[in-house]
Amino acid sequence: MAQQDGDSDRINIAIDGPAGAGKSTVARMVAGQLGYVYIDTGAMYRAVTLSAQRLSITAEQDERLAEMLASLQIKLEPGVNGQSIFVNDEDVTTLIRSREVTRHVSYFAASGIVRQVLSTMQRDYAIRKGVVMDGRDIGTHVLPNAEVKVFLTASVEERALRRFKELSADNAISLEQLEAEIAERDRLDEQRDISPLIRASDAIELDSTGMTIHDVAQTIVKLSRTKLAEAK
Ligand code: DC
Repeated sequence: MAQQDGDSDRINIAIDGPAGAGKSTVARMVAGQLGYVYIDTGAMYRAVTLSAQRLSITAEQDERLAEMLASLQIKLEPGVNGQSIFVNDEDVTTLIRSREVTRHVSYFAASGIVRQVLSTMQRDYAIRKGVVMDGRDIGTHVLPNAEVKVFLTASVEERALRRFKELSADNAISLEQLEAEIAERDRLDEQRDISPLIRASDAIELDSTGMTIHDVAQTIVKLSRTKLAEAK
């Protein structure tokens, strides 16, 4: 089968799904096994949120947001623990995971101007193929021609438990609180007007509840190798 652009021996892989479904770990593993580049688009929305918070810009202030976005250089680079993210050369990898950013990111992700700028950057990353991109709208909006599309889910309880185990001991949040925050973020991401979190009609749904991350990654690698063989 002919490819639309880029090398015919590489494909693009889109992994979408709700918060905490294991997308980033799985995407990183799949990229590692295939020798592809991993792009964490959630980190980009977080970087914009952090930058806006520092300037006291709200998600509704389109003009101020547009001005800020025009001067924002976001870079993703392979780091020691996965991917590092830089905003205007400052390493914000840890800062974008704060609760303050996490609690507000869905509002900035609902902004049309933010989505427009970040979607363009994301498409540019994928132009030569060979990327594994995770997010909410990759299969539906950013890369609708991705050769492999996966919609990764897990129950809210399981997702909250996974996040809870990742948090450091000094993080004063209970499992119940975390579960409520994840459910609220799902609601905001699914109900926003622009590019809501939704399964692309041609995406394969994988429920990772009760599956190991390794098994999920292997399933996606297998799917990708089948697609690559078909493309030859
Ligand atoms: O995957 P994450 O938790 O780091 O994502 C942070 C937020 O960004 C989440 O609330 C949804 C949003 N997001 C989005 O709207 N579209 C994407 N492609 C990726 C993330």
